[in-house]
Amino acid sequence: MSAVESPDCTPIEANGVKHRRNSTILNPRCYLTDELWKQAPVLTGSTKFEPLDNAKNILVTGGAGFIACWFVRHLTLTYPHYHIISFDKLDYCATLNNTRILDGCTNFTFEQGDITLPVDVKRVLRKHKIDTIFHFAAQSHVDLSFGNSYQFTNTNVYGTHVLLESSREHGITRFIHISTDEVYGDVPIDAADLSETSLLAPTNPYSASKAAAEMMVSAYRTSFKLPLITVRSNNVYGPHQFPEKIIPKFIMLLQRRNKLLVHGDGSPTRRYVYAGDIVDALDTIFHRGDIGQIYNIASKDEISNTEICHKLLDMFGLPHLTTEDLEKRVQYTEDRPFNDQRYATDGSKLAALGWQQKTGFDDGLRTTVDWYRRFGEVWWGDISRVLTPFPVVEGTEIWTQEEHEALPSDDEGRLEGVNGQQDSPWTADALDHLQKMEGKSRES
Ligand SMILES: NC(=O)c1ccc[n+]([C@@H]2O[C@H](COP(=O)([O-])OP(=O)(O)OC[C@H]3O[C@@H](n4cnc5c(N)ncnc54)[C@H](O)[C@@H]3O)[C@@H](O)[C@H]2O)c1
Repeated sequence: MSAVESPDCTPIEANGVKHRRNSTILNPRCYLTDELWKQAPVLTGSTKFEPLDNAKNILVTGGAGFIACWFVRHLTLTYPHYHIISFDKLDYCATLNNTRILDGCTNFTFEQGDITLPVDVKRVLRKHKIDTIFHFAAQSHVDLSFGNSYQFTNTNVYGTHVLLESSREHGITRFIHISTDEVYGDVPIDAADLSETSLLAPTNPYSASKAAAEMMVSAYRTSFKLPLITVRSNNVYGPHQFPEKIIPKFIMLLQRRNKLLVHGDGSPTRRYVYAGDIVDALDTIFHRGDIGQIYNIASKDEISNTEICHKLLDMFGLPHLTTEDLEKRVQYTEDRPFNDQRYATDGSKLAALGWQQKTGFDDGLRTTVDWYRRFGEVWWGDISRVLTPFPVVEGTEIWTQEEHEALPSDDEGRLEGVNGQQDSPWTADALDHLQKMEGKSRES
């Protein structure tokens, strides 16, 4: 099936990245053909409030990613009074297909930029006279954070710091920071649900980077009286989520008649919020929440990874009740280096603002399966490598774990570069300096 129409969509050189051996380069700028994307439903939340007088130009970071694209569509289409600026670096998991429906809207603008570059952030704040920020942009996949943790600290902590400092200089009326229930760490079975004042005890590099970002947020709230709100959500699922995360990945594996790849024994549970519901929660917090507060977005649906397998196998009409049938459909792989058993948060503070979960897990899952069956294969480009057990990502380039292990190591690459003068990781100055030093030591 033809997925793309844009002439700059060849995988080689996509996003300026050179294609290396055995990899896929995803191009978030690739557009689906008209005939395809016009069939896609326009998915938003369902809440609508009186627009705020002191909000006009709203910057949404990470707007071409999963949750933020839902929020961007909702704000743009529900509130013509607001001008929405989607700001995204267009990383491997992003796609402009997520907001393409808005391209003709006069109150929507897309700006490509990187939150870790102060120059990009200051430019967009000034250019669009931003008064409100929703900060979603992040490295968001826990599995990747075990292999690529510097990237997580850089984007999630330093990127948040850049946004805070730039907001302080620029002046804003509201900054809503999107965090996660993972900052609380593992919650034992039968322990009480955690409230917003519970201790933060993250256990993996992703959750640690999100907790560290929250410390920066808290410091800017206290030191500079920046008008901040922090939101900690349970797991979110629904259409438009990049198929590296468990639900869309499993759907796409079943669609391809492949086995489901379950980490460990499949027993860890997560609480799941449908994307339309988190949009309503954020809309509620935006219009009714108090500056300076933290709000949990908490779901009632706590589901184990094994239960997700069973529910999806049911929806695909695949038998799974005997051990023999299950073995045909499910493959257990090694676990993450560490995997929290469960997270459990209390949402009564947000309920007091009027939000409640509307979509139960089974209904949300059905809608999600339907969407991925129609669009999952074409929405992001070739996702074959994404569907393997532990894919490796660098920029927008993706390998299977085995392919990545077979690549020349960094050291070999560096030596090849210096000796062969090709693709050298040294800057011209450093190389020059190195050669002069070598010359001196030979003379002496
Ligand atoms: N998905 C979940 O279940 C979940 C649950 C709780 C909280 N969150 C939080 O919600 C936010 C959004 O999560 P998601 O699942 O939609 O993520 P996602 O990975 O789908 O999207 C992240 C987006 O951020 C962009 N981005 C990454 N680095 C950037 C940079 N340096 N500059 C600008 N843009 C950059 C990417 O291109 C992408 O579009 C994250 O902060 C995440 O921690 C997610």
